[in-house]
Amino acid sequence: MWMSLALLVGSAISATACEIPGGTLSNTITEGFSLQVQNASFPDIHNHFLNIWDWGGGDQHLFLSPAGNATSELTLIDGVITLPWDPPRRACINGEYEVKDNTTKVFMTERGDPRAVFDVIYGCNPDTDALQTELRFKSRDTSEYGGNIGTRPFNGMYDFRWTPAGTTAYDPDRPFTRVTLVVISSV
Ligand SMILES: *[C@@H]1O[C@H](CO)[C@@H](O)[C@H](O)[C@H]1NC(C)=O
Ligand SMILES: *[C@@H]1O[C@H](CO)[C@@H](O)[C@H](O)[C@H]1NC(C)=O
Ligand SMILES: *[C@@H]1O[C@H](CO)[C@@H](O)[C@H](O)[C@H]1NC(C)=O
Repeated sequence: MWMSLALLVGSAISATACEIPGGTLSNTITEGFSLQVQNASFPDIHNHFLNIWDWGGGDQHLFLSPAGNATSELTLIDGVITLPWDPPRRACINGEYEVKDNTTKVFMTERGDPRAVFDVIYGCNPDTDALQTELRFKSRDTSEYGGNIGTRPFNGMYDFRWTPAGTTAYDPDRPFTRVTLVVISSV
């Protein structure tokens, strides 16, 4: 009887959170990947993918699938999401600042806009509890630390935005939804 109780307790615990290995993951991933977008509270967003959209001038804007083109050739170079093209396009935070919700656009460019810098961490898949590799937002360049990456409605689609740490502004007409970015390796 005691044993079955212990087993019950044990399985209840293991079902709530996968086991996270110790150690630090490299912030460079040279093998191509796609990014799955998670927020289990928002079915319209959850488990969609980060897509690219040729916005002209060499820039690629970022949209939630199915908008835009799927990509599985993303890399991470010193914490910066990079399309290994010639010239490389890097994920940056700049432009279209919106005072209503304190968000700024995240997009990819060959120019020197302030970069979005991420750490690589392990997490647990909210649906399957499998171990997964996530990009955790770290800073805008080396000047502004913290904050969140999320999606926001844009012409019937969703684009990607950043809110700095300490943001309380919120626009209910165009809700910013914080997301988790999950590395899905293409190899
Ligand atoms: C998708 O990729 C094709 C081929 O490169 C390109 O012609 C098209 O403009 C792209 N569409 C978007 C929405 O970026
Ligand atoms: C907007 O972001 C700045 C940091 O860039 C922060 O100091 C400020 O509190 C935020 N404002 C609101 C209203 O959320
Ligand atoms: C889901 O989105 C809400 C609203 O932005 C946020 O408060 C919450 O932290 C998000 N959950 C995850 C797991 O990112």
